[in-house]
Amino acid sequence: MQGSYYQRCRRPWTLPFLGEEPMPEYAQLKARLKGGLLTDEPLSRHTSFRIGGPADALVLAETLEDLKACLDFAQEQGLPLFILAAGTNLLVRDGGMRGLVLKLEGDFKSMAFDGRRVRCGAGANLALLSRRAGEASLSGLEFAIGIPGTLGGGLVMNAGAHGGELSRVVRRLGTLERGELRECPAEEAGFTYRGSRFKGGSGLILWADLELVPGDYETIQARMKEALDQRRGSQPLALPNAGCVFKNPPGASAGRLIEECGLKGLRRGGATVSTLHANFIVNEGGARASDVLGLMQVVRERVKKEKGVSLENEVLVVGMDE
Ligand code: EPU
Repeated sequence: MQGSYYQRCRRPWTLPFLGEEPMPEYAQLKARLKGGLLTDEPLSRHTSFRIGGPADALVLAETLEDLKACLDFAQEQGLPLFILAAGTNLLVRDGGMRGLVLKLEGDFKSMAFDGRRVRCGAGANLALLSRRAGEASLSGLEFAIGIPGTLGGGLVMNAGAHGGELSRVVRRLGTLERGELRECPAEEAGFTYRGSRFKGGSGLILWADLELVPGDYETIQARMKEALDQRRGSQPLALPNAGCVFKNPPGASAGRLIEECGLKGLRRGGATVSTLHANFIVNEGGARASDVLGLMQVVRERVKKEKGVSLENEVLVVGMDE
């Protein structure tokens, strides 16, 4: 048979068990890692949606050496590699993900403040970074206090809220591209509204230098409180979700358009268009990716038909159908 394990496994769950094709030797990789490796791990345990089929191998990478070992292994075996980050803006299909799925832990969570600058690992929690900046009376990240996820995931999507977005405070990025460590100025990251050139899988973000502005402690705390209050009042935070499902079309609100089409409360399986904020889909228990994808299609079609607007996904959809 020709091609990589991944290319050959068009029905990945049957081939290994028929004895025709061995699974990649994940145990060999595991032995080389400081962090952990779990095989056949349900990604529903690692996504904020609580949805997603199994990853062939989920790696908890703690060091740069762990990451390099994963890249080498993926290359040798012809496997795809994907960084899951905190799994917060993500819909993993029900068939799960082949190859290596990584979470950046350990060293990748570092935060080093130096005056108005902070060098922060891609695996750092964005809300925690925002809080730490506030404690140091540094302004510029107040908008991020309620955004679930990691800095790296946030940078890939150019996460934003309350009029702010990460691209405004990032100055430099440390990346791993084609097997090489690189540093690049933020201008080379290709930031757009909820996107960057890293969204298409061109390289991995490892760390970022952010530049903040010294400000008044009380004012910063008040802005953060306002952002959290607004979010708590308007978003369905008590149920598993993946944030806003669609991008806001230019000059409009996706949530308002969806509400005006009468789609709040629309249900498929365990997934529902939130009655609180129509641009959220919530998992009310046992929702499958196919339920969510079905709802997304209905929403897209209705908004196109009734409003003439084509909604684009904000949530990243990955993995294989079952
Ligand atoms: N609205 C409705 N019905 C709804 C939802 C919203 O009429 O069901 C109206 C609101 O009343 C408001 C307007 O639409 O007048 C905008 O709503 P909101 O303030 O909730 O903001 P948004 O544009 O829906 C954006 C971001 C959010 C971010 C909030 C707060 C996008 C796609 N969404 O939402 O980000 O938290 O602003 O700043 O850019 C995310 O990125 O995952 C996300 C949720």
